[in-house]
Amino acid sequence: MFKGIATGVLATLVLGLLGAYLCVVMGLMPANADAKPPRLESWAARKSLHATIAREAPKIPNPVAMSDVNLIAGVKLYAANCVVCHGAADGAPSNIATGLYQHAPQLAKRPVTDDEEGVTYWKIYHGIRMTGMPSYRATLKETQIWQITLFLKHMNELTPGAEKAWKSLPSQAPGT
Ligand code: HEC
Repeated sequence: MFKGIATGVLATLVLGLLGAYLCVVMGLMPANADAKPPRLESWAARKSLHATIAREAPKIPNPVAMSDVNLIAGVKLYAANCVVCHGAADGAPSNIATGLYQHAPQLAKRPVTDDEEGVTYWKIYHGIRMTGMPSYRATLKETQIWQITLFLKHMNELTPGAEKAWKSLPSQAPGT
């Protein structure tokens, strides 16, 4: 009796794996970026991201001081590394931002000012798997990542110098 159940479970597992393998090699698993993510996929990706971040994001306060110099450095780093996907102060998306699967949020319209700084730091440092969000671990210094984080946290309450630098970044909207 037990042997029969075990064989049945094993056969189901093998068939399931074989089915999944066939879906992959026959191209039945969607590979296009111009689709709306299925709800199950979005749910699983979000849940897993939140749980990972809750476990791993640094809990320390931003080690970089809130100052004009650091905020302006953050804006400049944002301009060089992020603006093409996350947009300038007008919140108008580039073609790249719109075409990505997941779309890149325009941070001027959907700011992350309410997020803990450790969470934003984690996302920039590690990137977000299976989205266009790159990891900057290999290309930016930790201090630079904290400077961008500082700018994103205080985007709505910048010092006059940083505000000027932010507002003067060119729009990413096509044709501008
Ligand atoms: C090639 C495009 C691309 C670039 C360049 C990029 N990102 Fe992203 N980013 C994304 C995408 C796509 C997402 C959405 C991921 C998702 O849906 O979970 C994202 C998500 C984020 C989020 C989370 C937003 C939220 O609402 O929770 C933050 C913060 C972020 N990026 C910051 C940055 C910063 C800072 C840089 C530059 C250092 C950067 N990104 C560069 C594509 C990009």
